[in-house]
Amino acid sequence: MKFGHFDDKEREYVIETPRTPLPWINYLGNRDFFTLISNTAGGYAFYRDARLRRITRYRYNNNPMDQEGFRLYVREDMGPGKAPLIWNPSWQPVKTELDSYSCRHGMGYSVFTGSKDGITVSQTMFVPENENALIYHVKLKNDGKTPRNIQLFSFVEFCLWDANDDATNFQRNYSTGEVEIHGSAIYHKTEYRERRNHYSIFWCNREVDGFDTDMDIFNGPYGSAAAPDAVIEGKCRNSVAHGWRPCGAHQMDISLKPGEEYTVVFGLGYIENPEDEKWENLDAVNRTRAEQMMIRYNTDAKVDAAFAELKDTWDRLLRKFNVSSSEPRMDRMVNIWNQYQCMVTFNMSRSASYFESGMGRGMGFRDSCQDLLGFVHMIPGRARARILDIAATQFPDGSSYHQYQPLTKRGNMAVGSGFNDDPLWLIAGTDAYIRETGDFSILDEMVPFDNNEDLAQPLMEHLRRSFNYTVTHLGPHGLPLIGRADWNDCLNLNCFSSQPGESFQTTGPSEGPVAESVFIAGMFVKYGRAYEAICRIQGLKLEADEAEKHIAEMEKAVLTHGWDGEWFLRAYDAFSRPIGSHKNEEAQIFIEPQGMCVMAGIGKDTGEAAKSMKSVHERLETKYGVVLNNPPFRHYHLELGEISSYPPGVKENAGIFCHNNPWITMAETVLGHADEAWDLYQKICPAYIEDISEIHRTEPYVYSQMIAGKDSPRFGEAKNSWLTGTAAWTFLSISQGILGIVPDYDGLRVTPCLPRKMKGYKASRLFRGTTYDITVERAGKDEEKGLWVDGEKQKDYLIPVSKKEEASVLVRI
Ligand code: GLC
Ligand code: GLC
Repeated sequence: MKFGHFDDKEREYVIETPRTPLPWINYLGNRDFFTLISNTAGGYAFYRDARLRRITRYRYNNNPMDQEGFRLYVREDMGPGKAPLIWNPSWQPVKTELDSYSCRHGMGYSVFTGSKDGITVSQTMFVPENENALIYHVKLKNDGKTPRNIQLFSFVEFCLWDANDDATNFQRNYSTGEVEIHGSAIYHKTEYRERRNHYSIFWCNREVDGFDTDMDIFNGPYGSAAAPDAVIEGKCRNSVAHGWRPCGAHQMDISLKPGEEYTVVFGLGYIENPEDEKWENLDAVNRTRAEQMMIRYNTDAKVDAAFAELKDTWDRLLRKFNVSSSEPRMDRMVNIWNQYQCMVTFNMSRSASYFESGMGRGMGFRDSCQDLLGFVHMIPGRARARILDIAATQFPDGSSYHQYQPLTKRGNMAVGSGFNDDPLWLIAGTDAYIRETGDFSILDEMVPFDNNEDLAQPLMEHLRRSFNYTVTHLGPHGLPLIGRADWNDCLNLNCFSSQPGESFQTTGPSEGPVAESVFIAGMFVKYGRAYEAICRIQGLKLEADEAEKHIAEMEKAVLTHGWDGEWFLRAYDAFSRPIGSHKNEEAQIFIEPQGMCVMAGIGKDTGEAAKSMKSVHERLETKYGVVLNNPPFRHYHLELGEISSYPPGVKENAGIFCHNNPWITMAETVLGHADEAWDLYQKICPAYIEDISEIHRTEPYVYSQMIAGKDSPRFGEAKNSWLTGTAAWTFLSISQGILGIVPDYDGLRVTPCLPRKMKGYKASRLFRGTTYDITVERAGKDEEKGLWVDGEKQKDYLIPVSKKEEASVLVRI
């Protein structure tokens, strides 16, 4: 069952009923100011850091789930003795049945349109480029034949900045709230007097007939968002908040002739003032910057222009890579939604979604490095800056903080380091950047270790220490030590946590000299080769030879001690017992080493790789994707940790963890198994499973972290949408694996691995300044295979770097 449809021309998903299985959200903002917004206009806004600079409040675990947001109320008197008609154009929270409803989630904007009894209201929400504000462009229209008197109310609830403190420290926070009101602008200035230099504003470009800034007065002590006293009575109280719960509400009384339209612009902005310019006088904040902001959006024309600019930005971003094939659903994912999701993961890492509270982890080291793989072609400049930020959180010994806060860019002490795959992801991200841009100069950038400028070294030295970290942390079988966990945060082989509330990752010794990871071994071979190649290109022959030797040894160790007979082992535990082996009772086989080792080419020539893929199909594949392990854990294993704490079939315990499904897709393409690769690509691809939205439940336009596996009663149900490495990896698996367009150091390689049913495709790809118009087709009986650029045949399916603005490429396979 579907709840909407794709509109590819507008690059929108159009939700046709507010009753989606879960809130279906979108992300507004692309720099510093962000808003999460659901299909009923729920959500919240923040500046840079969802925990430390939260602008509006959101209550988790609510029922209904999605109560706070950017709602508008429409009210009309129904005559004496009758209840007024009250509704929201986005349906919640009042939930009056609408005559029509739609929510169009687009690239950086969302449009809600609701109508009731001949009045239509549309609410276009977006964060303009380079602006710290959320704009709502609102239009009310009388579609009927009689004049109407209606009222419009806006409402947002302010968060007292630190979302964590805001949700817990009531003894203080009920006393600190402060606002100022100037005309139609409400200034939320809690803590501005003391340690903050920022306030927020909620304004509109019309004169208002009333306002409120105290939520308990607007809602009334026994009212609620679904039935606020002020709206029911049709009269704001002009309340001024002193402590308690500051809010922003406007009231407008509007008369509409038949056919008449009324527009108003609302804005929610974030303003920072330099320390010496904070005040106008003791009681009044300096409003200069706020007033300038309001002037930038005080007419419909200015707002339309800002909206057009946003559309144009996305147009330019998405023009860099697009494809046209016989598979419209694949095209729409590649051209629109997959790239869009990659951009969102770049901005958010794993911090703020409807599943990530925004208060916990900031940016993940490995997560951010992997996210890079999916957006580096769109914004190489920002990818470069991100790599340097991430590298600065590395420790001098090559290990790294597992997470860091975006506002401070400092490592997160609570989790610390010791996740032994982390260092290698830095090589992966940097390598992708260099292949895309050819910019080797990044390797010369001086980057601190542990954020300490005194310890700064060129980025190349960071990569060297990443590589050497694995070399110097090997276990009894010559395989890499796992530390607190590898890619699978929940495989905790050195922790032995037995008490509720303990961290699975940091309890006990956490790191140890015995437990080893075959997955990291595969990574070391794959990304170690990238490191070796970079050394060679840099003229570091001795170092490259040395690296090559370590990689060969690792490959040998994997084939000797990391092979179970039909598949790759997962790991050795702290007692050197195999994990992911036919000898185990539970979890005999895991997905991660199969994907990573085969992507690295281990056992490609000797048959192990093909066997591994066969075992994946036989033992892990289901109709909704490949599960992480099988059979699932049914017992809690002290020596394995969090993985065995989850019920069978969910999350890391035999869920379909979408992130590593594309590893299998890519592994299949390494072996030339085109149909298998395609089959799996489709299985978890949102556009291909739109029809089962009632089972899948999360948004049909983006990937989720996890789909419940066959061992769960909720088989097929997804969770944790949006912020997942799945976005970047599926983009790689389709664009590089299946379509085969692969950036390389000396050019762009096109080596497709297309399923039999696909005859070819056309693509446009911007690469180092040249736009390539690529046609891929299957060679006819007597036709020569190969790659031609502007009619000239090239070697090895490689498009050499060119100075031309455009070139046309023919690939015959
Ligand atoms: C989550 C984490 C990621 C980890 C994965 C598997 O998605 O963000 O870092 O690799 O879970 O545990
Ligand atoms: C939990 C989650 C896992 C995530 C980790 C992040 O272990 O199950 O998916 O990666 O937390 O710290």
